[in-house]
Amino acid sequence: MSDLYLRIVNTPVGKTAAQSLGLPAPVPLKRLKRTDQPFIEGDVLIGAANGGKAIAALGATLGASAATLHHASGSDRLNDSAKAGNKAQPMDLASEVSQKFSALIFDATGIRNPVELRALYDFFHPTIKKLGTNARVLVVGQNPASCRKAPQAAAQQALEGFVRSVGKEIGKKGATANLLWMAPGAEKQLDSSVRFFLSARSAYVSGQVVRVSKSEPASATNPVAPLSGKVALVTGASRGIGAAIAQTLARDGATVIGLDIPPALEELEKVTSAIKGKALACDITDDKAPKLIADFVEEHFGGVDLVIHNAGITRDKTLGNMPEHFWDMTIAVNLSAEELIDEELAKRELLRANGRIVCISSISGIAGNFGQTNYSTAKSGVIGYVEAMARQVKNGVTINAIAPGFIETQMTAAMPLTIREAGRRMNSLSQGGLPVDVAEAIAWYCSPASGGVNGNVVRVCGQSLIGK
Ligand code: NAI
Repeated sequence: MSDLYLRIVNTPVGKTAAQSLGLPAPVPLKRLKRTDQPFIEGDVLIGAANGGKAIAALGATLGASAATLHHASGSDRLNDSAKAGNKAQPMDLASEVSQKFSALIFDATGIRNPVELRALYDFFHPTIKKLGTNARVLVVGQNPASCRKAPQAAAQQALEGFVRSVGKEIGKKGATANLLWMAPGAEKQLDSSVRFFLSARSAYVSGQVVRVSKSEPASATNPVAPLSGKVALVTGASRGIGAAIAQTLARDGATVIGLDIPPALEELEKVTSAIKGKALACDITDDKAPKLIADFVEEHFGGVDLVIHNAGITRDKTLGNMPEHFWDMTIAVNLSAEELIDEELAKRELLRANGRIVCISSISGIAGNFGQTNYSTAKSGVIGYVEAMARQVKNGVTINAIAPGFIETQMTAAMPLTIREAGRRMNSLSQGGLPVDVAEAIAWYCSPASGGVNGNVVRVCGQSLIGK
């Protein structure tokens, strides 16, 4: 499961050999070491196209960080950058820029037509080459669906192409680029997403677009343990991504119920006892599973706050060669079971107010994959389920999906070598992700401060070259 190539290429000899052979030279990603680590440090440049609505909120979030903050000046198209607040010192982009930046943040919400997109060039052209390794680019735009005029919708949609291309250009530095599409009036809801996308928690998330809508303000939480007092159910928790999710949610203060199939109970108990959680042996495709889970949750905790549908299986075969039980099992575990469990929890009112449901899709569900008609169907269905449910949930509940790309687990270790190597390199960061990368994104969705993040599908894939 370890990426030997990544290690070799980061030795002096390996680096030289990779350069001369034109091979990818992935940069080791910086991941979170301590929960009290500042979300961003170093020199950060913030800017806004004129008329930007998010700049003050971005300035407030960044003003509370450990970063040295600068705001762009030197272009008439960037005058509103000064609204970032007086913690940010002006930096004239018309002169030579000498700093190395740990992040470039741009409020593009004021852009009303394609001509005004020029502000992006004014801000990023003089600065993009000054990004350090593992740096962050974050653009905030307005959700095109909320733009009344076509030129404005065109310009705001254009941000997606811009950010995805920037991600592909800066990935070789281990840097990421992402876009937040804000709904009108959702400035206050940006904070948790800005913190996530600027931090080491989002090391393997790039080229993503997240819609942030208005929501009730979150109650104050302990920043080091934001999930204190929450009860989480994590399916498939005995190993791989599920174990990382259980550990990460527990690290953030949640009490975790880990669930897995009965033969995995011993492994499951190792995971749950280490985090002072509870283990529940259950096959989620069993007819009695939804009731068993609901009874367990009710008996031990009286309800649940976070439901993470992580359990999944692959049963690969080309369609013409696929036995029917491969089809049935794959749809049942990856898709139908989630729906039935949610239905039971909702019917018995066990999912608490401000609850979070997170489902795991896959790049295969977005792009399709040879030999995976069953799996891709199920994982695509997960996206449809999340989008439909997002319109129905009430009481501050949100539902979102994660679509992992190539993550180093037992599932991917079982792949043939050539496919595994291709999977690792075919993304902007030229490496596989770790289970914790998926877990960190889930912890961001689960944060009480993420009430405005609903109905999203975020890929944790290092910006896979496959799919959208
Ligand atoms: P894994 O195979 O290591 O772990 C899956 C867990 O789900 C296992 O512990 C298994 O026992 C459990 N499970 C399977 N069927 C179950 C059932 N009927 N009832 C209860 N538990 C059951 O897989 P991994 O890699 O950790 O994947 C986790 C999720 O992420 C899955 O939904 C998978 O489809 C998805 N995914 C993983 C990717 C990767 O690169 N590893 C890529 C894209 C998606």
